[in-house]
Amino acid sequence: MDASYGERLLAIDGVSLEYRNRERIVRATHEVSFDVYGADRFVLLGPSGCGKSTLLKAIAGFIEPVAGTIALDGKTVRGPGPDRVVVFQEFDQLPPWKTVLENIAFPLRVARKLSRAEAKARALHYLDKVGLAAFADAYPHTLSGGMKQRVAIARALAMQPRVLLMDEPFAALDALTRRKMQEELLRLWEGERFTLLFVTHSIEEALVVGNRILLLSPHPGRVRAELNSHAWSHASTDDDAFRASVARIHHLLFETGTDVEARA
Ligand SMILES: Nc1ncnc2c1ncn2[C@@H]1O[C@H](COP(=O)(O)OP(=O)(O)O)[C@@H](O)[C@H]1O
Ligand SMILES: [Mg+2]
Repeated sequence: MDASYGERLLAIDGVSLEYRNRERIVRATHEVSFDVYGADRFVLLGPSGCGKSTLLKAIAGFIEPVAGTIALDGKTVRGPGPDRVVVFQEFDQLPPWKTVLENIAFPLRVARKLSRAEAKARALHYLDKVGLAAFADAYPHTLSGGMKQRVAIARALAMQPRVLLMDEPFAALDALTRRKMQEELLRLWEGERFTLLFVTHSIEEALVVGNRILLLSPHPGRVRAELNSHAWSHASTDDDAFRASVARIHHLLFETGTDVEARA
């Protein structure tokens, strides 16, 4: 995949997002700004309800900001496109009437205009990357939650998007499977160097998955601080350095006060 190393791909500038109905307006994020560079593993971290999913939906092009701009490769995002693919938390994001292979190949034919043979070859390639080549002809309901998420990841990567968007993709998995999937995602990234924008409310997951982390305050989401991996060197998730990083981020997320950004 062309990783466009170090090049600015996504520019989020002063983005405020709202939900409006007849009774009221809910502000989901307030003037959020950040940039994502090629081959980043950029994590949006914040408590439930701080607007992470809303931000991801806006970047995917499903909602329009009420203020600010979202640009990909210098062009303002005006709607969904195959250059941004989302992997969701839910296990039911795969149409159940298609086999695993068809689930991956079909969007390639529609959105990437590949021939039947090209789509199949590429689908098999990515299915192999997630260790599920043997399940090409299986139907989604016969797979475990972790396997379904692997298929969803293969389907997303096969599209070769400019940015892969993931919204708490492992949150519904048991703790052991979740840890395994985080490691698999990192292995995939080592091989492909795609650009990832990953949403989570778990500090531990953010530290494992990300090379950069944006901390968002509770509702409405505002930028609290931005950290990069130089700030959290650790060898494993059970060493003291890791625990210290978790404690520090917890403090940054939940401490009230106005000068948090300065201390990050
Ligand atoms: N469809 C909707 N209509 C009205 N309010 C919504 C809708 N979806 C989310 N919200 C509200 O917007 C805020 C941000 O939600 P969300 O982006 O889902 O947060 P997160 O993903 O960080 O948990 C929350 O207060 C939530 O209740
Ligand atoms: Mg969410």
